[in-house]
Amino acid sequence: MWPRLPGPPPRRRPPDAHVEISPRSSDSSLKIGEVHEANRKAVGRTILHFDAVESTNETAKELLESDVEEGLVVWADRQAAGRGRHGRAWASPLGGLYASFILRPREAHAWVLGLLFGMPVVKALRHFGVFAGLKYPNDAMYQDRKIAGILSEGVYRHDVYHVVVGIGVNTNVDLEKLPAEVQPKATTLKREVNLFVANEEFLDYLLNQVDDLYSRYRNTRIEFLVKDYRGQCTTIGKRVSVTTGKEKLTGKAYDIGTNGALVIIDDQGAKHDFFEGTLEILK
Ligand code: BTN
Repeated sequence: MWPRLPGPPPRRRPPDAHVEISPRSSDSSLKIGEVHEANRKAVGRTILHFDAVESTNETAKELLESDVEEGLVVWADRQAAGRGRHGRAWASPLGGLYASFILRPREAHAWVLGLLFGMPVVKALRHFGVFAGLKYPNDAMYQDRKIAGILSEGVYRHDVYHVVVGIGVNTNVDLEKLPAEVQPKATTLKREVNLFVANEEFLDYLLNQVDDLYSRYRNTRIEFLVKDYRGQCTTIGKRVSVTTGKEKLTGKAYDIGTNGALVIIDDQGAKHDFFEGTLEILK
């Protein structure tokens, strides 16, 4: 993990900034750009680009104190304290892509949105040459190595429900820059594809896909999207072992329930719904 970064000197907000930002993280991060893309429907119409933050999810949550538009994106070139699922750290060296989106869905769908957002991530990876698949719930994997992860959090601010979805992609990261214990299980776009893909280009494509998915989410029944997700989830059909708290279960990953659960059939033929915990694919 990165050490905490020293704060830059105080600065004035550029005159063209349209969004009022007063995040506490501005003490330790420098906003280096603000991009507007009016053609997008909801997600990615405004992107705030920082050089370094503690965590883009945290910066996004701090921004919720002000009246920010839905779909606002917080993007950073590195994170000093990137967070993963289950309280784990997300190593965030320079070269990777770290972005969080602010959503205001009508229902408390943080978890299922985190699941569905795996689809645009995989689409973007494939577009740029890595034929990734989705390990349940939302790890983008290539040849059994993780290349991207998603952390989705539901947050109430001033009685309004928000979802912050954070995506980390190992784009232009040198594998050696990741922690030693992560290296054997991880890969990067740079390692798998010969052609250089700038993070701006990757993010632009990813945002178009995320915007499309979120628009479908707002206009379609969620079951249809979960069905699409099922088609992309490479865990289905595999023998798995899952651990939730103290309980461990071994069986075959059989289906994705309409609620987004992974349905596992154990060796006695009983069905179980699995949502969160540790999932291991057995050979
Ligand atoms: C995981 O697979 O454990 C989820 C990793 C999510 C990492 C991203 S990077 C951008 C956003 N900010 C964070 O602190 N975490 C997410």
